[in-house]
Amino acid sequence: MPMDIDRRAFIASLGGAAMVSRMSDEARADALEDYSINELDRQVAYAQAGQNAAAPEHFPTVAELEARIDGSASRRGAGNLFVGTRDRPVKRLEPMPKRPTLMDFFNLRFKTAGAYNHVLQSATRAMKTGMTEEVIFACLLHDVVQSLIKVDHGWWGAQMFEPYIPEKSTFGVRYHQALRFYADEANGYEYPDLYRRTFGVDYKPEPYIEETYKMVRKHRWYSEPRMVTVNDLYAFDPNAVVTMDPFVDIIGRHFKQPKEGLGFDNSPVAHMWRSIAYPDHPL
Ligand SMILES: [Fe+2]
Ligand SMILES: [Fe+2]
Repeated sequence: MPMDIDRRAFIASLGGAAMVSRMSDEARADALEDYSINELDRQVAYAQAGQNAAAPEHFPTVAELEARIDGSASRRGAGNLFVGTRDRPVKRLEPMPKRPTLMDFFNLRFKTAGAYNHVLQSATRAMKTGMTEEVIFACLLHDVVQSLIKVDHGWWGAQMFEPYIPEKSTFGVRYHQALRFYADEANGYEYPDLYRRTFGVDYKPEPYIEETYKMVRKHRWYSEPRMVTVNDLYAFDPNAVVTMDPFVDIIGRHFKQPKEGLGFDNSPVAHMWRSIAYPDHPL
């Protein structure tokens, strides 16, 4: 049975027309195939639930989301390592090696609670679309601090990585958070439905976000965080198979691994790494 592809939705899923025009014919064909398979799955899931997949999604309002705060066991900004859910209660973690590397944190901590698949998908897409190594690296790191804390994760993440990564990558991680709220059609970034769902359909970013956006918009490094957001969009494909292999060299070239291990180098951010290594320490 042939399936109608919504051309606009397909192009948006890839990050917009500008992004699509930069892809090779082969990459475009692959993406279309992936998209068709996902869309088919989605329509089947809706049909099984007795719902119409074509009906527009109902997004919550800010007030509806706020009404859910009272009585919650944890706050929405809490780090993923520190809160369990009914379906996914917290589990005992594997111990970290004595002198942990970035890769140890990926394998032993971010995999459990640090948006591991999401950042790998992001970085894979950045690599496929020919981004600079600084942008690819920023994509690989952009959300992993959510294991520690989610509120203001752009700033927290940038701070935690700053002593060890290129300045442009830090800039990309720090400001992708603010830029996510502002469309940039020329670069192929649309405001995502995910944010209508997460923040409320009538959400207006805080003034500090707005001011940060205006500052970054005029900055000569604007494209660093903007490209993180462009590659962020497509990065929630549950079926994509991604591995760390393509990024091992980039980490080797761009990450200044402290010889004492992350958390033990007496840097101003060492305690942040230790908090991720030992989230069960009571104090
Ligand atoms: Fe993010
Ligand atoms: Fe992200």
